[in-house]
Amino acid sequence: MTVLHSQRLRYEPMSEDHFDGLRVLNGDPEVMRHISGRPETAEETHATIARVQARWREHGHAWWCLIEVDTGELVGAGCIQHLGHDPANPLEIGWRLRPDRWGRGYAIEAAERMARFAFDELGAPLLRAICAPENLKSARVMERLGMRACGHETWHERDVLAYEIERTTWLARSGNKAE
Ligand SMILES: CC(C)(COP(=O)(O)OP(=O)(O)OC[C@H]1O[C@@H](n2cnc3c(N)ncnc32)[C@H](O)[C@@H]1OP(=O)(O)O)[C@@H](O)C(=O)NCCC(=O)NCCS
Repeated sequence: MTVLHSQRLRYEPMSEDHFDGLRVLNGDPEVMRHISGRPETAEETHATIARVQARWREHGHAWWCLIEVDTGELVGAGCIQHLGHDPANPLEIGWRLRPDRWGRGYAIEAAERMARFAFDELGAPLLRAICAPENLKSARVMERLGMRACGHETWHERDVLAYEIERTTWLARSGNKAE
């Protein structure tokens, strides 16, 4: 299980150690509005952690908890996982932050770091992302990452906007040379 670092964040593979912080994050209706539409229960948080741990063991990538280096607080979560949880599908990148940390650039900082992990360390040819059509803040992170909009698709039985970026496009962006 891979720990990552960026300027202001540490990325810890999600585990039961993060339960309290995840309860605050996933129990917040504002965070979950465009994801499931309702806060996660404590039982669901335990189940999420168990599923994520299994994915880390099976695939070597899944969800990280985002720890703010300055405070040690869990301020968000991010993922690289198979879209639709099906290994036949391309990798998906995703993010969520505690509302009191919105507007600081943490999501784009995490997106850049997780994308680098997917392209450099996993050798992904393509990275996709999906969001609810009305989730403008998340769409802005995708655009800042250099992803292009692919229109409406259905995932998890919901209408979503899909975005993607190819490895070649990623490498052509300044600062993303292959290591
Ligand atoms: C989606 C989500 C993570 C985006 O959070 P965010 O704070 O808007 O995104 P960032 O952390 O990248 O911050 C960008 C904002 O910070 C500002 N900012 C401040 N300091 C910055 C810095 N050092 N670097 C970059 N941006 C900075 C930017 O100007 C931008 O503000 P703007 O959107 O008003 O122009 C957040 O809205 C969220 O958690 N939503 C709920 C969960 C969710 O829907 N997740 C996505 C599911 S698809």
